[in-house]
Amino acid sequence: MDIKLLFVLGVIRGTLAQADDQEEDDLSLPNSNVYYPAFLIDLKSTDLTYKLLSKSPFTYIVVDPDLVPMTSDEVIQLRKEGKIILAYLSVGQAEKSRHYWQDDWVPGSFPRFIDDSTPSKSSTRMNTRFWMPEWQSILRRYLQDLISYGYSGVVLDSVDTYQRFVQQEERLFPADDMIALIAGLRQQQRDFLLFVTNAVELYQDDLFRRSIDGIVATGTWYHTDVPIDQRNTNFTLGFLRKARADTKTILASDFPKDLTHVCDFYIKCTTEVFRCAVFDVRLNGAGESC
Ligand SMILES: *[C@@H]1O[C@H](CO)[C@@H](O)[C@H](O)[C@H]1NC(C)=O
Repeated sequence: MDIKLLFVLGVIRGTLAQADDQEEDDLSLPNSNVYYPAFLIDLKSTDLTYKLLSKSPFTYIVVDPDLVPMTSDEVIQLRKEGKIILAYLSVGQAEKSRHYWQDDWVPGSFPRFIDDSTPSKSSTRMNTRFWMPEWQSILRRYLQDLISYGYSGVVLDSVDTYQRFVQQEERLFPADDMIALIAGLRQQQRDFLLFVTNAVELYQDDLFRRSIDGIVATGTWYHTDVPIDQRNTNFTLGFLRKARADTKTILASDFPKDLTHVCDFYIKCTTEVFRCAVFDVRLNGAGESC
C-alpha cells in the first residue's frame, strides 16, 4: 500500500470533508476557504518515488537528496512535468550522516572548520566555521553533484549559524561571511535555484537579495503551538513581504497541531500571498489542512 500517496490524496479528501462540516456546523465560518499544504517538505521519508511525486498535487517539493530513491532521469522527468525539486543542503552545520563526513572526525581531531567550542545540542550535526575554504569546497562539490543529478535547486539550511559568531572575536562580520558563501554558490550555476531557510534579516543586504530565488520561512506565526511574539512576526514579515515584492518565492511553513492554530496560520499566511503549508515538526511529510 502506498502510504505517501494515501497521504497526498488524504489531504485533499480530508479538506473537502472539513469544508462540508463547516457548512453544516457554522455558517458564519468562511466555508469557501479550504486550505491544504501548497508544497511538500519531506526530509525523512525514504519512499518518495518518482511515481508518487509525479501524481502529487505539489509543484514545489523539498527532499533530502541522500534519502530519495529517485534516479537522475526520474528527477529530470519530474521537472519536465513542471515540478520544482529542491534538495536540502546544510551550509552552517556539518551532518554526520553525509558522505563528506570522515570516520576520523571525532572529538579531539575535528578538522578546523568544525566548531566544537560549544557542546553541540544535536548529536548528528555540528556548527561549521563556514567561511573556511575547506568547508566551502565540500559544499561546492556537494552542490555540483546536485546540479549534475538534475535537481531544480537547493534549500540552504542553517544559514543562521552565522549568528553564533556575532560579537565573537573570531570573525568581525559573520553575516557578510555567510552572504559571501551564498553569493559564491550562486556563481557556480546561474540558473540553479537557491532557496534559504529563515535568516530573513539578511535580506537587507543587496548581494544576498540578488543571490537567492526564494525563502523557506518556518515559525513565522507559530513555534509548534506557541504563538510567536507579534513583534517578531512583524519583523520577519517585513523581510518576507519585501522578498515577495521582489518576486522571490516564499514557502512558509509553521508546525502547529491545534486545528485553531492550523487554520489561523493558513488564513494569515494566505493573506500574504505566500505558498503556505502546515507540517509535522519532524518534517516527515505529514501535512495538516484546514
Ligand atoms: C504588527 O503589525 C500589525 C499590522 O501589520 C500591527 O497592527 C501590530 O500593532 C504590530 N504589532 C507589534 C507588536 O508591532
